[in-house]
Amino acid sequence: MSGQLKIAVFASGNGSNFQEIVDQVREGKLGARIGLLVCDRPNAYVVERAHQAEVEVFAFRPKDYPSREAYEEVIREHLIARQIDLVVLAGYMRLLTDVLVKPYEGRMINIHPSLLPAFPGTKGIRDAYDYGVKVTGCTVHFVDSGMDTGPIIAQTAVPIEEGDTLESLEEKIHTAERCLYPQVIHWIETGKVRLNGRKTVIDHTERSHGTIT
Ligand code: GRF
Repeated sequence: MSGQLKIAVFASGNGSNFQEIVDQVREGKLGARIGLLVCDRPNAYVVERAHQAEVEVFAFRPKDYPSREAYEEVIREHLIARQIDLVVLAGYMRLLTDVLVKPYEGRMINIHPSLLPAFPGTKGIRDAYDYGVKVTGCTVHFVDSGMDTGPIIAQTAVPIEEGDTLESLEEKIHTAERCLYPQVIHWIETGKVRLNGRKTVIDHTERSHGTIT
């Protein structure tokens, strides 16, 4: 990859992470371009956000396809046609198959609302809250074929304080996510993230720029 990073965001619902990325691109805090929003729920609010931001959308209904692989092949064609460098999963509520995971290995990231490997799955915030942990948070990781199992790039800890409700905790974690995700995208677009087996190394010196390695 050289030049400006072109990203596709995958989302299923509200899209507050998508919006934060859009805003940071507009403000010039991120150098990346958003080439596509992929959404499996055409009525989701994130689609409206994309239209307002003039981001191209591929929205589809999974039930219109014979299998997951079938719609992922269509998505892959869209990604290739737009020369997408990095796939950013932001609340995309579907497991991916190797049709997408393999070609984007090391070039696909996800944000999860807990400190992985604790509380994977679709209810990360609630599961941590119900368990009674004192610290939870959010995790950005590369995507592999497991559920929330790929190499971790960065995490933010969020303490659960006395008096926190599930709602107040959700708010704190979403705030932390909106800070962490653009930060990681910025590290990637400036070539600071290197994958070494299961471990990622973040280069904090000033000389790196513009490559995904
Ligand atoms: C976030 O909490 C993210 O961690 C999880 O799904 C949620 C998406 O929120 N994977 P939003 O659609 O970006 O508002």
